[in-house]
This record gives sequence, structure tokens and C-alpha cells, in this order.
Amino acid sequence: MLLKIEGITKRFGGLVAVSDVSLQVNQGEIYGLIGPNGAGKTTFFNMLTGIYKPNEGKILFENQPVQGLKPFRIAQLGISRTFQNIRLLKDESVLENVMVGMFGKTHTGLWSAILGFRSAKKEEEMVREESRKILELVGLNGYEDELAGSLSYGNQRRVEIARALVSKPKLLLLDEPTAGMNDEETEEIGELILKIRENGTTVILIEHNVGWVTGLCNRIAVFDHGEKIADNVPDAIISDPLVIEAYIGKEDEEGESEYAAN
Ligand SMILES: Nc1ncnc2c1ncn2[C@@H]1O[C@H](COP(=O)(O)OP(=O)(O)O)[C@@H](O)[C@H]1O
Ligand SMILES: [Mg+2]
Repeated sequence: MLLKIEGITKRFGGLVAVSDVSLQVNQGEIYGLIGPNGAGKTTFFNMLTGIYKPNEGKILFENQPVQGLKPFRIAQLGISRTFQNIRLLKDESVLENVMVGMFGKTHTGLWSAILGFRSAKKEEEMVREESRKILELVGLNGYEDELAGSLSYGNQRRVEIARALVSKPKLLLLDEPTAGMNDEETEEIGELILKIRENGTTVILIEHNVGWVTGLCNRIAVFDHGEKIADNVPDAIISDPLVIEAYIGKEDEEGESEYAAN
């Protein structure tokens, strides 16, 4: 068991964003997290990565409690993520954007102060090499020197994934990696996620495109109003009446489809 969550809750004032959620993710799985807008999915990731501390509950990563640890500590333990809204340094090169993913893992900065310029330089060279390899993995070789902001939307999402991968995480959290993508780009991201798993990284992904996610994931959890209402293999999820109600009920309330990218 790579990740074991026991009854985590996050409250914002009177709002219970995540309510008593327990789930387990095995090593090597691609695990989907779906549910209507506002269901608590991103908040769940924010607790896993130390941005928020759960009000209650435990997060065990490789049997070690990590709830409430600082984000850099959790990153060092091997949990990495991308964000729902792309967060790139648009005026920096693609390569530099990926290299940023190693800060916190390396001692660059501290080393340059203590040991002088040369060792820092050497370490930077290693990070640069690793970043190039990861860019190749995500299909962006040749783009290293482009400004991140000049890339297509789909390619910017790939840079984000590359940045999250450069620290060689054991667990990668993807928050709506295909938001705003066309069918072809979505398909390619699916292939990339399979490749990432083959390289030994376990993946949890939040997704709006239910059809796509059921084809990709080993298991899926469904959140609604902060609660986990289902947790099963894809076939069982799509025929679960509670799940269907959560989606259709929400559609009625808002008068629009929940599958639309936001
Ligand atoms: N920092 C915050 N302060 C107050 N409310 C928040 C905060 N973050 C999220 N929420 C609320 O928590 C609920 C769950 O949000 P979120 O986790 O972003 O849902 P999802 O990612 O499933 O769309 C929403 O009602 C949202 O408005
Ligand atoms: Mg979200």
C-alpha cells in the first residue's frame, strides 16, 4: 500500500470541503478522482501535498504519517503534483520551468553559499540533464529553449507534468490534466500517463472527462459535497446509481453539464 487515507476532513469556517474521506491507493495504480465542481477534489490534493492541514484524520504515505507536514517535506518524501490552473513562468524557457521542479530536492542555493560556485554549478548541470530527459519523456524534445508562454495550451500542460516528474516522485497527483484540451491532446496525455506508470510512478488524477478516465484508471473514487460516495473499478462506478445521481442532480441544479472544462 503506497497511500492510506483515514477519515480526513477539511473545514473552511462552516463549510466542510472534505468530509471524513478514507481511501487507499496501491503502488503502480492509476487512480481516478471524479465528482462535480466543488466536491472537494482539489482540497483533497491540497491536504496530500501539505498546502492544507486536515482538521481530522491521517494520511499515511509508505506507512508514515505525513498529514500536516510542510509542502517541501512532502515533496522530498516523493509526492509531486500539477495544478488545475497552469502555473508556469511564462517568460522563462521550457527547460528552466522544468528545472524549478528540482528545487527543494537539491541543495542548490545553500551549497553555492557554503561550498562555493563550482559544486553548485555541477549540481545545476545534473538538474539540467535530468530535465532534458524528462522533456523527452513528455514529448517536448526540441522545445527546451522556447519561452513557456509561447507553447500551445496542451504543451504547457506537458511542461507542468515534466516539472512535477523531474524530482522522480513515487506518487504523482494530476489536477485536471486535460482541462481545455481537444480529443487528440487528451488521448496523448492518456498515453503519457501510462508511460509514467510504466516508469514506476503511481498516479492519482482528478478528471472531468468521465468517459476518458474510466478507460485509463484501475480504480476510481467519486466525491460529492465533500464525501466519498463510491470507490471501485471503472465498470462498477459508471453503473452506480449514487454516482449517476450525483452528476445528473448537479446538472439540474446548475442547468449545465458538469463535464464542461472550467
Ligand atoms: N481556501 C478555501 N477557502 C474557503 N473555501 C474553500 C477553499 N478552498 C476550497 N474551498 C471550498 O471548498 C469546496 C471544495 O472545493 P474544491 O476542493 O476546489 O472542489 P473541486 O476541486 O472538487 O471542484 C468548494 O465549496 C470551495 O469553494
Ligand atoms: Mg478542483
